[in-house]
Amino acid sequence: ATNRTFTMIKPDAVGNGHIGAILNDIIQGGFKIIAMKYTSLSDEIAGQFYTVHKERPFYGELVSFMSSGPIVAAILEKENAVEDFRKLIGATDPSKAEAGTIRNKYAKSIDANAIHGSDSDENAEIEGSFFFSAFERF
Ligand code: CMP
Repeated sequence: ATNRTFTMIKPDAVGNGHIGAILNDIIQGGFKIIAMKYTSLSDEIAGQFYTVHKERPFYGELVSFMSSGPIVAAILEKENAVEDFRKLIGATDPSKAEAGTIRNKYAKSIDANAIHGSDSDENAEIEGSFFFSAFERF
């Protein structure tokens, strides 16, 4: 079925000038942009967004990295969106990401891994709603 996922182009990819190339890969990959914004996260907001990882050893670094510079947040629509988007971006660790995937092309490390993609339909809805109101979805 046609459904939605949520993504963020992370501070490393924004800082390295990859916003345009990544959006192009996303659109060429068949995803339609339903909502999008260029913004930045405070430590507090990044901490809230990643609450699911609160107990993980990398939480502190993740939060400070995600609040280190601007990001692009977006809701995307496609048939089988969550799974197909995770294929497009590649493995969390870019050294394990398949050739041609966004993380393979633009990511440097497991922390600075260029892009986020929701891991389930449920989280896609939670994450999308964290950033966007009903009036910001088209
Ligand atoms: P993302 O899927 O956006 O959300 C959690 C992030 O934590 C993940 O991307 C990685 O950038 C980061 N991270 C750092 N270390 C790890 C790890 N060992 N396992 C999973 N994610 C990690």
